[in-house]
Amino acid sequence: MAIFPPEQRIWWKQPLHGVEIAWIGICLVWALVMFFTMIVWHVIGEQNLSNEAYRILPDVYQERTEAMVAQYQVREEGNTGIPVVHPPAGTDIYMMARLWEWWPILELEKDKTYRLHLSSIDWQHGFSLQPTNINIQVHPGYEMVVTLKPNKSGEFGVVCNEYCGIGHHTMAGRIYVVE
Ligand code: CUA
Repeated sequence: MAIFPPEQRIWWKQPLHGVEIAWIGICLVWALVMFFTMIVWHVIGEQNLSNEAYRILPDVYQERTEAMVAQYQVREEGNTGIPVVHPPAGTDIYMMARLWEWWPILELEKDKTYRLHLSSIDWQHGFSLQPTNINIQVHPGYEMVVTLKPNKSGEFGVVCNEYCGIGHHTMAGRIYVVE
């Protein structure tokens, strides 16, 4: 305990106590275990998310999202004015984060593969898909691409899990999966 100054001014030349060495050894071994677990899990784990990311200007991302919506919108969600988009299976699809919404609502087909692009056009947000609990940080200036193959039909929620201001708790989106 370093409450008092060391008795010997040249304290670092004192011999180490056995207990101290043991703890240093335990910490070192445990740090190595955790480090290699990350690498092993990256190879054998089934929950590894996108390692595909690109730089993109926010307005370019917004244009691409709007182009997809213009092309594949099928209806509006209730009377909210939020478009519901049904893009063809196998294509690149876009969900845009902004204060405070996930836009648009996507309607996907079960057992079809999509490339989901995620980016923000203002601040940092967090994409959290519920109830499957997939989490991805969403930054302006970068797009993450997630290969997605829904294996269950139904309604999935997207919440923002990165505090982004006064409307953070209202920032919810939706993905529908249909048969
Ligand atoms: Cu977006 Cu919190």
